[in-house]
Amino acid sequence: MTAGVAARPLKILLAASEAVGFAKTGGLADVAGSLPRALTRRGHSCAVILPLYRCARTGPVPVTPTEHRLFIPVGDRTWEGRLWRATLPRSEVPVYFVEQPEFFDRDDRSLGLGLYQFTATDGHKRDYPDNCARFVFFCRAVLEALRLLDFWPDVLHANDWQTGLVPVYLEEVYRRHPDATLREKYLHVHTLFTIHNILYQGRFLPGDMALTGLDWRLFNYLQLESFDRLNFLKGGIVFANRISTVSPTYAREIQTPYFGEGLHGALSERRDRLFGIVNGVDYARWDPATDPHLPAHYSIDAITPGKPLCKAELQRRCGLPVDERAPLLGIVARLVEQKGIGLLTQAAPAFLEWGCQLVVLGEGDPYWHRLLEDLRNRHPDRMCLTLGFDEPLAHLIEAGADAFLMPSVFEPSGLNQLYSMRYGTVPVVRTTGGLADTVTDCTPATLAAGTATGFRFDPPWPGAFRDAVGRAVALYRERPDDWLHLMRNGMRQDWSWDRSAAEYEQLYARLVVG
Ligand code: ADP
Ligand code: GLC
Repeated sequence: MTAGVAARPLKILLAASEAVGFAKTGGLADVAGSLPRALTRRGHSCAVILPLYRCARTGPVPVTPTEHRLFIPVGDRTWEGRLWRATLPRSEVPVYFVEQPEFFDRDDRSLGLGLYQFTATDGHKRDYPDNCARFVFFCRAVLEALRLLDFWPDVLHANDWQTGLVPVYLEEVYRRHPDATLREKYLHVHTLFTIHNILYQGRFLPGDMALTGLDWRLFNYLQLESFDRLNFLKGGIVFANRISTVSPTYAREIQTPYFGEGLHGALSERRDRLFGIVNGVDYARWDPATDPHLPAHYSIDAITPGKPLCKAELQRRCGLPVDERAPLLGIVARLVEQKGIGLLTQAAPAFLEWGCQLVVLGEGDPYWHRLLEDLRNRHPDRMCLTLGFDEPLAHLIEAGADAFLMPSVFEPSGLNQLYSMRYGTVPVVRTTGGLADTVTDCTPATLAAGTATGFRFDPPWPGAFRDAVGRAVALYRERPDDWLHLMRNGMRQDWSWDRSAAEYEQLYARLVVG
């Protein structure tokens, strides 16, 4: 355990809009599925609460209804819902679900219906028009659930805009509960609000304030209003007792106008309450020695023949020439501007000309889909593009690639560079957010010191990215022993959740003592 406040066992409720095993669009799901288990292993009592999406109701993990019914006002109508229950896979951690079929039982990948967005007829993704009502319902349901389940957490840990109003309702409604006994219980709940990505803020028209049932006086620039919109994320930032984000560098970055997306002022205002904790890796799911998605296994002491076999399988599966010596570059990402797809499409022709192979898996904006398709059509023998969400392929790419590319414009934490290191797949990353905090650039000095784990570049320009990949390819081809050191340095890193959980534990403990 890290030094600091002595941690007594705490009760924690983690509220999120997705968790792996039930619903996933990105890294938040990995965090919400892993952190509670790591906290439980450290002796805390933890539960998770999520919306009951269709994919959670019909997914592989059994979920069952409870007798707890919810009646929640949204605007001038009261909506009825119910709590369901399950446990996080491979654990005893309870997961509660907020059922409200009209709001949450609508996702269907085959029809382009996601958790927060749908694919419009022009192929573009659009937010559901009732997202404000959906997540007003969810936020209030989280606070109702404490009473219904008689589960009174020391810390209510909310995540991202979908839960941004949880601290607001706690402060403005539930801590003023007319029932004195309940009021007392709500008064003892502390809140932590974690920002996983400040780009997504939950911005709604001012008139949607009426859906929240909150007092209009809160619609001001110091509280819920931002650029003339109701802003859920700002609610979380202003009302939570503490705020965190998913790396120390991103915690600094979001206090600047460039990264802060209009909220840098609100964050700077509360900088003494803002912390950065890098995400961890669930090594039970992401370990090349045991990963069920791989055709062969390997570890730091026995990289061959497992890793080359994974590379050959990836090349076969992608229809690329099976060539052990061709540097294979991999990417798995949401295909959105954040991930630096623009840099990739501009720099990639050079990599392909050098004889590299490129494997891309992702889905997102049709604009990036088209650019990547163009690139692939120009280099069909060197590049494979899979547009879609495919967990087994994501694992095979981590294992089969030689280097993993993350030219992100910004990256709050990033998980794939951590997975890559464990899989002996050298990350090439832009120096931003969690990438800056977790990858050490390869130089003669860091190689000699045994600390080099990847390649970094700073300016968000194609030339800088190309040079970083160029350095990686040169080392791979010309100095295989050094490349092997680099792989091993990465594989040796410990980015387990236990390490991050210890930091959250300290943060919770300080929060509870005041
Ligand atoms: P973000 O949360 O910004 O998307 P992270 O690096 O934190 O980025 O996490 C992304 C997670 O989502 C990783 O577990 C990654 O493997 C997974 N992922 C992203 N896109 C896909 C995809 N198309 N298919 C399978 N997994 C994906
Ligand atoms: C966000 C970020 C990513 C982070 C993830 C989980 O989606 O883009 O960097 O790892 O949340 O915290």
